[in-house]
Amino acid sequence: MEPRYVDNAIIEESYRAIDRLKAGLGNAHPLYYIETYGCQMNEHDSEKIAGMLESIGYRKAASKTEADIIIFNTCCIRDHAEKRTFGNVGFIKELKAQNPALITGVCGCMMQQREVAKRLSQRFPFVDMIFGTNELHVFPQLLEKVVNGGRVFEIRDTDGEIAEGLPVKRNEGFSTFVNIMYGCNNFCSYCIVPYVRGRERSRRAEDIVEEVRNVVREGFTEVTLLGQNVNSYNGGGVRFPELLRMVNEVEGLKRLRFMTSHPKDLSHELVMAMAECDKVCEHIHLPVQSGSNRILQLMNRRYTREHYLELVRDLRENVKGVEITTDIIVGFPTETEEDLEDTLSLVREVGYSAAYSFAYSVREGTKAAVMDGQIPEEVKKERLKRLNEVIAESVTGANDKYMGLEGEILVEGRDMRGEPMMFGKLPSLKMVYVKGDESMIGNYYKVRITGTRFNSLVGEIID
Ligand code: SAH
Ligand code: SF4
Ligand code: F3S
Repeated sequence: MEPRYVDNAIIEESYRAIDRLKAGLGNAHPLYYIETYGCQMNEHDSEKIAGMLESIGYRKAASKTEADIIIFNTCCIRDHAEKRTFGNVGFIKELKAQNPALITGVCGCMMQQREVAKRLSQRFPFVDMIFGTNELHVFPQLLEKVVNGGRVFEIRDTDGEIAEGLPVKRNEGFSTFVNIMYGCNNFCSYCIVPYVRGRERSRRAEDIVEEVRNVVREGFTEVTLLGQNVNSYNGGGVRFPELLRMVNEVEGLKRLRFMTSHPKDLSHELVMAMAECDKVCEHIHLPVQSGSNRILQLMNRRYTREHYLELVRDLRENVKGVEITTDIIVGFPTETEEDLEDTLSLVREVGYSAAYSFAYSVREGTKAAVMDGQIPEEVKKERLKRLNEVIAESVTGANDKYMGLEGEILVEGRDMRGEPMMFGKLPSLKMVYVKGDESMIGNYYKVRITGTRFNSLVGEIID
């Protein structure tokens, strides 16, 4: 099915609202502050909000206290995200008391849950605008309502659309994100994302390639293609391996990354595209969630432990030097000691270069929330601790193979702790620390690995 695109007339109206707001500001340049929670998807949405604000004439504030507008872009993937957001929004009350002209907004995934948004609206009457994930492209119109004295509460239930052509203010650096798709259709039984981000929809391949060309022109050399499940990308018949090959051709681009990959849709064709495209980095984030087939089935992941290990074998065989990272949940309903052991043994077997571990968190409205056999919090905690020990061992152990190897890093910044060191990543996403100075930032250097740390490496520049 063709995705629905936001009508041009609406995007044009957003630009007219930007113009009106800009005229209203005259020569003033008020300051904005955006606080972002959650994943890269949200990070990138915040760059779009920043793009619209800068088009109006706003400039970035160094801190919340000096800002004229504060936006919270929220996440609801796990429990603590919610507590933190409510706490931090509450804190704004004082700032608003000092500066009644301060505009405050809350948006993002958590606000797409109508009940939570209502609760936030009632608890914090000083919040001027609350809007969901489907309202991003009309942000200027919503802001205009607030500037004219109104209060905004806009949450639309829709399967979602695609909005093209809005301004983006990208975070500084040399690496940036490009959306290739939105939403998710997988309904993993624990996960809230399909409910707050709508149905899966892919952007046109030519729009994606054009955006990559543009960011390269702006000076970025590394691009990460973003989607909840990039392996099911289908832009008018163009599938993900083909898209990778198209983007790989963009002149001036040095490195191409993508995330996230769902194991059920990872094809051999994609493995070969990774192997054959010179700019595609030797890294894949391949969330496994559990090593137990029984739990995987309850999670509705639609692959088995054996299939996952087969994918790992295919990747290792064909993509030289590939590193694999993952996400793992412990304490899913009915998880037994035996299930946990299956997860621990899988971690040891794969040898991840990084693994993000989470205690299962009940998300209202999902299938797993009403499953029997919920695991007590202290058991989840204890299992998480055991998992983390196995991850640490496995990650540190896997570092040794780098000793003496050569590779290329993109220097990103300076480590402020202890002895001054510059750091940058290998294509495999492994972090390498080297001696040097700030003038190196943004450049690529060949390095030889001379040492290892807990989850990073130490190297020396060889050219
Ligand atoms: N689309 C991506 C991940 C999105 S969420 C994917 O499919 O991999 C990022 C991670 O959060 C997930 O991989 C999962 O490990 C974790 N997560 C999601 N829902 C969770 C929940 N209810 N409790 C604990 N962890 C969860
Ligand atoms: Fe959530 Fe599963 Fe979709 Fe990832 S693939 S966003 S874990 S439902
Ligand atoms: Fe991302 Fe959190 Fe939304 S992980 S998609 S910001 S719920």
